Amino acid sequence: MNEFYQKDIISIKDFDKENLEKIFAATDKIMNLAPSERREICKGKTLGYLFYEPSTRTRLSFDSAMASIGGNSLGISDVSSSSTQKGESLADTIRIMSIYSDALVLRHTLDGSSRFASEVSEKPVINAGSGTEEHPTQAIQDLFTIKKEKKKIDGLKIGIVGDLKYGRTVYSLLYGLGNYDVDVRLISPESLKIRSDSVYEIKKRLDYTESTNLEEHIDELDVLYVTRIQKERFPDEEEYLKLKGSYVVGLDLLKQMKSDSIILHPLPRIDEISPDVDKTQNAKYFEQAEYGKHVRAALLGLILNENGF
Ligand code: CP
Repeated sequence: MNEFYQKDIISIKDFDKENLEKIFAATDKIMNLAPSERREICKGKTLGYLFYEPSTRTRLSFDSAMASIGGNSLGISDVSSSSTQKGESLADTIRIMSIYSDALVLRHTLDGSSRFASEVSEKPVINAGSGTEEHPTQAIQDLFTIKKEKKKIDGLKIGIVGDLKYGRTVYSLLYGLGNYDVDVRLISPESLKIRSDSVYEIKKRLDYTESTNLEEHIDELDVLYVTRIQKERFPDEEEYLKLKGSYVVGLDLLKQMKSDSIILHPLPRIDEISPDVDKTQNAKYFEQAEYGKHVRAALLGLILNENGF
């Protein structure tokens, strides 16, 4: 049996290097299949999605991925139009959706929400973002992008810049990178450093350095992973306004980077990467978003087929 069959995807910590490499191989396979072959993979299967927070890429890439492998999706993209408005609990909403779907994708404001959902759901649950905690499929997509664009992950110098306190993609990426031999530089304002309650978990997996100065590292990096300052998670808007614009990647900064370095961003971007950068050979964030669709199609194909595809 395929090891991912009926598996929940709650945390990237549940995946070792061998698991990740199998998902990458499945993604490569799916990218090379003819559309007619792809459509056989999840023919007749239904994906349910439930989003308590806004999303463009994650929801639509799951939707598009499921359609590309012959399945269909249904769900709630705006809970204000659902019975949660009448007071229905997350547990009941999940139970009902798992009756109508073969797998569920959940984004929720609270840490622990996806783990909780997986305990009440009859069907596999995929975490599409749980509070400030994790976004595991984004990390798989990020690692796949690095591998595709740099042809390897081991041995790379990777800078992660921006809001490292509230950005959940950063946590999943760091846990995922812990499976590889990488040199990680964390760059953020002092008040947006990695949360102290996660330092132990991250340090168990990999070594990193911390700095507030991006220019100190920029000429050495193979990968620059830029993140948005997460306005919606700040308890105090004044504090956000002080930190907004702390780092802006523009053409001037790009001149200091290695010519074959790549710039990634989970998106959405606000002002942290200048649009001028989009046209350069280093900008790979739109390719990253495209790979996300294929990674998610591969994950769904593996989760929903006992013998894989
Ligand atoms: N990267 C990401 O999670 O984007 P969305 O919030 O648009 O889904």
